[in-house]
Amino acid sequence: MKPISVGLVGLGTVAQGTLQVLAKNRQELTRRIGREIEVTHVGARRDRDGVDLSGVRVSRDLMAVATDPEVDVFVELIGGTDYARELIEAAIDSGKHVVTANKALIAEHGNQLFEKAQARGVTIAFEAAVAGGIPVIKAIREGLAANQIQWLAGIINGTGNFILTAMREDGREFADVLAEAQALGYAEADPTFDVEGIDAAHKLAILASIAFGIPLNFDAVYTQGISSIDLDDIDFAEELGYRIKHLGIARRTDAGVELRVHPTLIADTELLANVNGVMNAVQIYGDAVGSTLLNGSGAGSLPTASAVVADLVDVARALTVDPTNRVPHLAFQPNHLNDLPILPIEATRCPFYVRLLVRDEVGVLADITRVLADHRVSLESVIQKEGVEGEAVALILLTHSVVERDLRAALSQIEAFAAVVGEPVVLRVETLGAVL
Ligand code: HSE
Repeated sequence: MKPISVGLVGLGTVAQGTLQVLAKNRQELTRRIGREIEVTHVGARRDRDGVDLSGVRVSRDLMAVATDPEVDVFVELIGGTDYARELIEAAIDSGKHVVTANKALIAEHGNQLFEKAQARGVTIAFEAAVAGGIPVIKAIREGLAANQIQWLAGIINGTGNFILTAMREDGREFADVLAEAQALGYAEADPTFDVEGIDAAHKLAILASIAFGIPLNFDAVYTQGISSIDLDDIDFAEELGYRIKHLGIARRTDAGVELRVHPTLIADTELLANVNGVMNAVQIYGDAVGSTLLNGSGAGSLPTASAVVADLVDVARALTVDPTNRVPHLAFQPNHLNDLPILPIEATRCPFYVRLLVRDEVGVLADITRVLADHRVSLESVIQKEGVEGEAVALILLTHSVVERDLRAALSQIEAFAAVVGEPVVLRVETLGAVL
């Protein structure tokens, strides 16, 4: 049988890994598909040392790859949303299937791209867009198809987890660890996407859509990064039996869907709390299966290439399938997506970690707990750190589950106390289904 002809644009970290995996596992892939996969056309705006493209057509004009009539499957690995979208639309128009690792593009324009692909009878595969090498899209979309998914919580940015881990384990400075993550090829071209949570928000929007059967809703994701996380909070959390992880959380409630990315305390006994370095993990709760956890490399050349090549295998197998019988892009039939409301962050109900800086004066703790009680906030534990006479000391509060709006209202009164210095640090706690 004629090989499947692949056109690939981009020659960065993931593209180089993809070429490497395709070459190394050529025979194994042919055994799986029954046909060979051949990269016939590569689009790259410049040469890359050490990349062997002998026998492959190379174009500087990436559009020449997207519209090449010889190409069956177009693989987009350039990133970014504008030109990548133009290329993918051109590939769809010329009847090609698409494989992409582009989370920003899928999260922000996926609704329109999927509609276009569907109308043209082609598919867009995007396993590599979320959690690098972990096959989480396939697991949710197919393996857990029997379930009503109730929530998922994931460490879905490798760079952020790499930074938090090095800060906790080695007390290293944020900027220093970020530079290392960049050198290792984990970080985005603009690393603020990693540390400010935008990359994780892209991925969460995708996961929530396929978990709940809702349209992609990137703009509605509450997004908070890790750049302001202090080593003190990592230590205090540890003292309370928690680790701070940068989580993406999607939860279905009676009122709608919570979609949030933020630094989060998780009990150190949870598997998720022990996922370290560049590793990613996604914990998913389905009504039939209960809790499941997928763990693996969340970034890097070969792990991400593993997902790209798996998508190529899937697409190759789907070439002969009636388009109406393919696995839907967002797991549910497009005409059965539910436009559930996305809840504001103030409606979140969870326990909270609060660090206040207070002058150690008689009655201050009583005043604080009174205001909290007035707002229905009850406390699980309180730690007052020893300080130097006359100087403010850290007061750490761990609340029971409370509605964020109530806690914020109480804290705005507490902040106004003369004995309270500066703004409180407030971090959400994720109990992963347990009641606290
Ligand atoms: N910059 C991303 C991360 C790459 O660190 O997770 C993988 O999507």
